[in-house]
Amino acid sequence: MAIDPEVSRYHSKGGEQSRLTEAPSLERIRTQVLLNRYLPAPPARILDVGGASGVYAEGLAAAGYEVLLIDPVPLHVELASALDGVQARLGDARDLAEPDASADAVLLLGPLYHLLERDDRLQAFREARRVLRPGGVVLAAAISRYASSFDGFFRGLIDRPGFASIMTEDRRTGRHHNPGDQSQLFTTAYFHDARELADEVTESGLHLNAVLPVEGLLSWAPGITDRLRDPEQLEFILTWLESTESDPALLNAGSHLMAVAYA
Ligand SMILES: C[S@@+](CC[C@H](N)C(=O)[O-])C[C@H]1O[C@@H](n2cnc3c(N)ncnc32)[C@H](O)[C@@H]1O
Repeated sequence: MAIDPEVSRYHSKGGEQSRLTEAPSLERIRTQVLLNRYLPAPPARILDVGGASGVYAEGLAAAGYEVLLIDPVPLHVELASALDGVQARLGDARDLAEPDASADAVLLLGPLYHLLERDDRLQAFREARRVLRPGGVVLAAAISRYASSFDGFFRGLIDRPGFASIMTEDRRTGRHHNPGDQSQLFTTAYFHDARELADEVTESGLHLNAVLPVEGLLSWAPGITDRLRDPEQLEFILTWLESTESDPALLNAGSHLMAVAYA
């Protein structure tokens, strides 16, 4: 199964190796909080589908999980294979070369970003459901429908030629295309509305537990990276996110969403 050549080219440049590790990242910290909350205790078998170079897989393996990372980009598989305790293999979320009921958890922290067709996203969820043991958990990340609008207004990208029409199209259709040489921008992607993500999970036959904000409103907070370096502020931020995560009014207002569902 082939992925979009644009997506392959973008990820083959290796940006995922440093994206979440160069500086403290609220996306990474809060995702780890959600993994800690919902994953079964180790030892358990986790498929990290779309796991890139292993930013989460490495820590999960160190924590005692059996981790198989599956990703369509050869560079990602090569880098992840070199991590202690992580097995990695080429593959696609829509067609997992794994037996039925063979995993305790499936992470989809990336594939949904790049599946523009609803049928493809449903197929990824159905595959997750197939390979999970009954009661196994899926954690699936999506990019919010307004991500590029916020980047436009809060990070000033709207001043770049062509960006206003890109973000208008993103908001209207969810389909993010980035024509021309806008190398600093994200590649071809799908941006979800929270209700749509919930519907896709349910339609695939999984049992939806929650759709949660990952970074929530704090995606856009000035100085957030520095605040994360201070343990007291970090704790306050994580408590704030947890105490507001059930407010539906805030769901679409951050960069990423996380669906939690059971087989
Ligand atoms: C933005 S990265 C996210 C990586 C990492 N899981 C994270 O949360 O930071 C998206 C990942 O999804 C992978 N991907 C793209 N299309 C995919 C597909 N159809 N099946 C599985 N993975 C896919 C990419 O190769 C890339 O590693």
